[in-house]
Amino acid sequence: MAESFDNIIVTGGCGFIGSNFVHYVIENDLVGHVTVLDKLTYAGNPRNLNGLPEDRVELVVGDICDAALLDRLVPGHDAIVHYAAESHNDNSIADPEPFLKTNVEGTYRLLQAARSHGVRFHHISTDEVYGDLALDEPRRFEPDDPYRPSSPYSSTKASSDLLVRAWVRTYGVRATISNCSNNYGPYQHVEKFIPRQITNVIDGVRPKLYGDGRNVRDWIHTEDHSSAVWRILTEGRIGETYLIGANGERSNIDVLRAILERMGKGSDDFDWVRDRPGHDRRYAIDPSKLETELEWRPRHTDFLGGLDQTIAWYRQHESWWRPAKIAAEVRYAQFE
Ligand code: NAD
Ligand code: TYD
Repeated sequence: MAESFDNIIVTGGCGFIGSNFVHYVIENDLVGHVTVLDKLTYAGNPRNLNGLPEDRVELVVGDICDAALLDRLVPGHDAIVHYAAESHNDNSIADPEPFLKTNVEGTYRLLQAARSHGVRFHHISTDEVYGDLALDEPRRFEPDDPYRPSSPYSSTKASSDLLVRAWVRTYGVRATISNCSNNYGPYQHVEKFIPRQITNVIDGVRPKLYGDGRNVRDWIHTEDHSSAVWRILTEGRIGETYLIGANGERSNIDVLRAILERMGKGSDDFDWVRDRPGHDRRYAIDPSKLETELEWRPRHTDFLGGLDQTIAWYRQHESWWRPAKIAAEVRYAQFE
């Protein structure tokens, strides 16, 4: 029997995946009201919530590390869906501190609030907590694999997952965890691989490929991530970890060449650049627990079709990404 929710808090709801989730639950009438709690860092944009009804979506600008704010905000809500994070590996290598603060302390503060006010908690995490796989390894990540994070980003996400597990067992917090693979789709920040390369091509700048370009990511459309999170929130077993993926493994060079081809460029119209330190080789999700136990399936199984839609979205929303693009490329110039 699915649990229902009427008034939920979505942390990080002005970021890429969180805002897509808010659109998903409101536009499909899955909940009555969403309170978005977002600090509006460089990665948060209130315009991501444009078009949503004001009487059903409220934005509270604040920090998940602010315990007093959480004590005022959480009562009256029936669930917290926790997306807020510092989310970009390259930034974590340049300056890990905000990752420790938001990803570890912020999750701790939210868990304490969920515990005090008896609120259901769903924690959004990443497959990167499991480290990486070799290119020729036949296996994929499974929920009970050991945690072997490689980067400051993934180690802080792994830490936050462990806090959630401990708060379930010790304090009886009603929480679930999902670890998803790489997302693509609208509203993704231009620092990330796919939007960075699309917007570079629009700007007449050559895309940048790290290392030998053979690293593999397991791509999922962000709307499929949203539907999986909703399924876990409403039907998942408390204390469980579910892996979310859509069988979308592709090498970076294949993805880049698909973008170049679709945007009318030659297949070698890009620059090889210095590799990311500690760069994970391959991520791959075995989603069978989610598929068999909760009967979830992805809808966006045509990656190239999804890429076409994403390219069109960035072409149509230049005023949305232009300010962030300038700032992101200034950051890249400092560490490239
Ligand atoms: P994002 O960087 O686009 O958005 C993060 C949001 O969190 C922003 O709106 C930002 O303002 C907000 N935020 C940051 N610090 C905050 C704080 N202290 N208090 C309140 N709000 C704060 O990130 P994203 O790519 O949408 O990722 C969302 C979540 O999904 C993260 O937890 C990330 O680890 C996870 N995840 C991402 C991917 C991916 O492919 N991007 C894959 C799997 C899991
Ligand atoms: P990214 O979008 O940063 O996600 P993650 O590090 O979480 O996988 O990067 C995706 C892949 O693309 C990763 O292997 C690094 C690579 N990459 C490039 O080759 N060039 C780039 O400019 C960026 C940003 C990433």
